[in-house]
Amino acid sequence: MRHPLHALCPYFAMFPEGFVLDQLLAFTSPGELVLDPFAGRGTTLFESLLNGRRAIGTDINKVAACVTGAKIDVPQKEKLFERLDELERAFWRIRTVKPFATKFFSACYSQPTYQEIEFLRTHLNWRVSKVDRFIAALVLGSLHGESHKSKLCLSNRMPRTISTKPEYSVRWWNERGYIAPKRETFNILRAVAEMRYGISPPQMKGKIRLADARRAGSLYREHTGEVKLVVTSPPYIDTTDYAEDQWLRLWFLGGPPYPKARVNRDDRYSNVMSYWSFLSEVWAGCARLFSPGTTIVVRIGGKLDSRTLLEGVRGSLQHGLKQQGLSVKTEYHNSSLIKNRQTNSFRPGTNGERREFDFVFKLQ
Ligand SMILES: C[S@@+](CC[C@H](N)C(=O)[O-])C[C@H]1O[C@@H](n2cnc3c(N)ncnc32)[C@H](O)[C@@H]1O
Repeated sequence: MRHPLHALCPYFAMFPEGFVLDQLLAFTSPGELVLDPFAGRGTTLFESLLNGRRAIGTDINKVAACVTGAKIDVPQKEKLFERLDELERAFWRIRTVKPFATKFFSACYSQPTYQEIEFLRTHLNWRVSKVDRFIAALVLGSLHGESHKSKLCLSNRMPRTISTKPEYSVRWWNERGYIAPKRETFNILRAVAEMRYGISPPQMKGKIRLADARRAGSLYREHTGEVKLVVTSPPYIDTTDYAEDQWLRLWFLGGPPYPKARVNRDDRYSNVMSYWSFLSEVWAGCARLFSPGTTIVVRIGGKLDSRTLLEGVRGSLQHGLKQQGLSVKTEYHNSSLIKNRQTNSFRPGTNGERREFDFVFKLQ
C-alpha cells in the first residue's frame, strides 16, 4: 500500500516512488546512505527512509525544502494536533481581518478561509519548528487544487501541481462563473493530518537543506565518502521555472503575493552549454560525498534527444568528479514517454517535456 505521506504535496516533474524503490533494491543495502541534490517533494529521501536506508538532500526551493522536511522528520501526531488546537484558539482570540492581498486572492479564497490562511502564514514558524513545518506542508498540499472534486482543497478550482498565473486564473474563473468555496481550514488540516498519519512514518530521520546543490559536499561534511546511491532528477532544460510555477505556495511560505520569474537563477536553463557546466559544478560540489562504487541514477527530460542527454550528463559527471579522482562508467540507459499531465487541461498549450531518460552511472 502506498504510504499516504508520499501525496503530502505534489510537485512539478516529480518521479514516482516505484522508480526510487527499484534503484534502492538494485544498488543499496539497508543502512546505506542515499543522496538527492535536487530533492523536489522528497520522493528519493522519503522512499529511502521507508526502506531502511539513510537519506540526505538539498533543494533551492522553499516549497521543496518544507515538504521534504515534513516527510523525513515527522512530528508526533499528538503534538501536531495540540498545535493545531492552539493555533485555532489563537486565531479566534486575535481575530484581525486582513484585506485580500490582491484581486486574485479575493477570487481564489472565500473571506473566512483567506483569514485562516493568512493567520497561519504569519504564525507558523516552519523554518524552526518541525511541528509547524509539518502543518505548513499540510497547508501547501491543500492550498490549491480541484476543489469541485475535493472537499480538502481551500481554493477556487486550480491544478494541484502548479499555481496558475493570477490574471489568467481570475479570467478563467470569471468566464465560467466559478466562485471560491467556503472551507474551514483548521478542520481540513485535521482531516488531512489523520489521513497522512494513516500509516506510521519511518523511524529513521533524513536531512534536507534549503541550499544550492553545489554546496551539498560542504553542507554534509560528516558524510564524506559515504553516499552509496544518488537518485535524482535535475531541472530539465527550458521546461519550467519552479519558483514561478509554485508562486502561491511560496507566498504562503513568506514570499510576495504574485509570481516572480527567475527567483532561483539556476532553476531554468535555455542554454545547453551553461546547463552542462551547471551540472558539472553540481557533481563537483557533491564529489566529496562519493567514493568508488557510488551509483548515480539520473532521470532527465527536456527537448534534447537521448544521445545528446547521455553525452551531456556523462560529460558533466566526468568533468565534475575529475578533481576527486573518480571516473565514470555508464551502466544503463532507458527512455519513457511522459503521460498527459493534469496541468494541460488548465494551461492549454503548456510546453513540456515529452520524454524522460534514465541513466545509471557507476563511479570508479
Ligand atoms: C525535476 S525537480 C525534482 C523533482 C523530484 N525528483 C521529485 O520527485 O519531486 C528539480 C528540482 O531541482 C531544484 N533545483 C533547481 N536548481 C537547483 C539548485 N541549483 N540546487 C538545488 N536544487 C535546485 C528545483 O527547485 C526542483 O525542486
